[in-house]
Amino acid sequence: MERLLIRGGRPLEGEIRISGAKNAALPVMAATLLADGPMTVGNIPHLHDITTTMELLGRMGVGLTVHERMQVEVDASTIESFRAPYELVKTMRASILVLGPLLARFGRAEVSLPGGCAIGSRPVNLHVDGLRAMGAEIVIEDGYIKGRAKRLRGARLRMDVSTVTGTENLMMAAALAEGTTIIENAAQEPEVADLAHCLMRMGAYLEGVGTSTLVIEGVERLNGIEYQVLPDRIETGTYLTAAAMCGGRVKLKDTHPGLLEAVIGKLRECGAAIDTGEDWIELTMVGRPRAVDIDTAPYPGFPTDMQAQFCALDAISDGTGKVVENVFENRFMHCLEMQRMGADIHIDGHTAHIRGVDRLTAAPVMATDLRASASLVLAGLVADGETRVDRIYHIDRGYECIEEKLAQLGADIRRLPE
Ligand code: EPU
Repeated sequence: MERLLIRGGRPLEGEIRISGAKNAALPVMAATLLADGPMTVGNIPHLHDITTTMELLGRMGVGLTVHERMQVEVDASTIESFRAPYELVKTMRASILVLGPLLARFGRAEVSLPGGCAIGSRPVNLHVDGLRAMGAEIVIEDGYIKGRAKRLRGARLRMDVSTVTGTENLMMAAALAEGTTIIENAAQEPEVADLAHCLMRMGAYLEGVGTSTLVIEGVERLNGIEYQVLPDRIETGTYLTAAAMCGGRVKLKDTHPGLLEAVIGKLRECGAAIDTGEDWIELTMVGRPRAVDIDTAPYPGFPTDMQAQFCALDAISDGTGKVVENVFENRFMHCLEMQRMGADIHIDGHTAHIRGVDRLTAAPVMATDLRASASLVLAGLVADGETRVDRIYHIDRGYECIEEKLAQLGADIRRLPE
């Protein structure tokens, strides 16, 4: 298995480009199933989760052509299977995103239940309940969600919890349903809004984009278009946090500062100076960061996908930080690995109490999920000695060329082959 070797202690200096957002690209790729003609999706990051989605679509018989610079052309007219098999869904839960489009456009779908996950139980009951309320007949059998529908009908859907992929699935289904669907307590994440913009460009009628109430008027058909997905706010936040920990000055280009207000606010609180333009962010950090308290919440709150990276920051900060995880039930595995590097962290239920130490020391550590692995890389960048991060296939699911980008900023990091 590949691993990363990191020698800590260097400041970060320089400029890098931010990639397209994984969590925007995945639903937009699923939305291509709704289009009557070929569709081209651009600014796609080169990541394992994207390859998995392409494999999933390819196995269904969907035509795929990859053009220069990861523009992917998708043609669903050749589809012949409506099944997302367990062996793909278990490597990428976001495969569930094909459920709504398949039922809405083709009237049938078989999608494996995703099962457990390293960050909590992560059920998909709200996806299934919503589609049932729209008239789909769904049974859970042999570990699969098996659905049939004639034309879905619009419905009033009240989501008990704000769910990102749940909102996306139901929004895609509603776009081709008969009549009006209202989604209350819809997720407001920028990636949900990006999918809504894509659907509207395809010919869908949506109101309330970016708010917690979405109104979708179904149409009979949607067109294939060209669409560029938005920049990755979590990748942006991860490199900003790295620079706040290491010190120095970094400029991140092709990003969108407006999507990161909660994160930028916390980085300023820890002592970083931040300048922004329309599509860039520059962070300058001198000296040791001050510890900050974090409370994760759905957007526009502080993102759970940045929690692990801020645990790493608090671990070497001046003072004590309290990090509360409110979105997922078991998302502190990275803290146990950081303790092995000398971090002083006490976990109490959903809260991590982190007392900053002067130095972390290198150790072999193991990544358990995508953001956990990013946080261990960040810890390695400031640790004394050489940190080895194992199981980095998690990182490759969500960070495009992480070692190249960090090396470009001056970090001492390299990938060891298997
Ligand atoms: N939930 C339910 N029932 C459901 C669906 C969700 O109870 O039917 C609960 C979950 O258990 C969780 C909460 O709702 O406690 C929020 O989960 P959500 O459904 O919003 O998560 P998701 O859609 O599965 C997406 C991102 C995650 C990100 C979360 C939260 C994608 C492909 N994934 O997951 O990204 O952490 O939203 O913002 O968009 C990552 O990129 O590393 C990642 C894990």
